[in-house]
Amino acid sequence: METLLRVNALSHSFDYPLFNSLNFTLDKKQSIAVTGVSGSGKSTLLHICSTLLKPKGGEVFINGKDIYRLPSDELVNIRRNSVGIIFQSHFLFKGFSVKENMEIATVLTKSDFDKELIERLGISHILNNKVGDISGGQQQRVSLARILLKKPKIIFADEPTGNLDAVTAGEVTALLFDYIKANNAALFLVTHDLNLAKRCERAYKLENFALTTLQ
Ligand SMILES: Nc1ncnc2c1ncn2[C@@H]1O[C@H](COP(=O)(O)OP(=O)(O)OP(=O)(O)O)[C@@H](O)[C@H]1O
Ligand SMILES: [Mg+2]
Repeated sequence: METLLRVNALSHSFDYPLFNSLNFTLDKKQSIAVTGVSGSGKSTLLHICSTLLKPKGGEVFINGKDIYRLPSDELVNIRRNSVGIIFQSHFLFKGFSVKENMEIATVLTKSDFDKELIERLGISHILNNKVGDISGGQQQRVSLARILLKKPKIIFADEPTGNLDAVTAGEVTALLFDYIKANNAALFLVTHDLNLAKRCERAYKLENFALTTLQ
């Protein structure tokens, strides 16, 4: 087993403590889910694990590197090359078409336009539509396509199915699980959907400042 992500004695607080001394690892081809009530700190934990926010205490290792003790250019390289982040609210260029949004991603990440991925996400028929004019669920799938293009080693997904109907949600999650197996990658998933959480190798609930295994 090769560990892609290791979290050691992680603590964070804003005005009040969110979590204390969290420890877990995520290996190749594995998935981990974090559930918990709104405001419990799930997105904050995801941001810390995915290079975006320095924790108040503890360490985050990606590919064995203590990321918040690296020079900032190395941290940015990890963010750019190894990590794919699906945000709770997605960031797309609303005035541009779906196709243009995909092309911007291919240029930024030096990757190829992936027709098969776009077919699979069911967005090939809206390539010429402006992102501002497509539905929330379609926007979610466009942002997922942009993230998978660069073949990240760890996908951090914050409520990736939050805006989707049950059928599309099933397709998107199948794509994520297939992706990590096919690419020796790993998935860190935040979700309120307990059934989805239980499809991951490990499912946790964030409560009382700790991660407890979901029954
Ligand atoms: N940058 C920040 N500065 C101050 N407080 C913050 C900041 N980011 C988040 N918080 C607070 O930390 C707590 C946890 O927020 P977080 O977004 O991690 O929750 P969450 O579990 O993802 O919730 P939800 O299920 O609603 O998405 C909340 O009370 C939030 O208001
Ligand atoms: Mg959140």
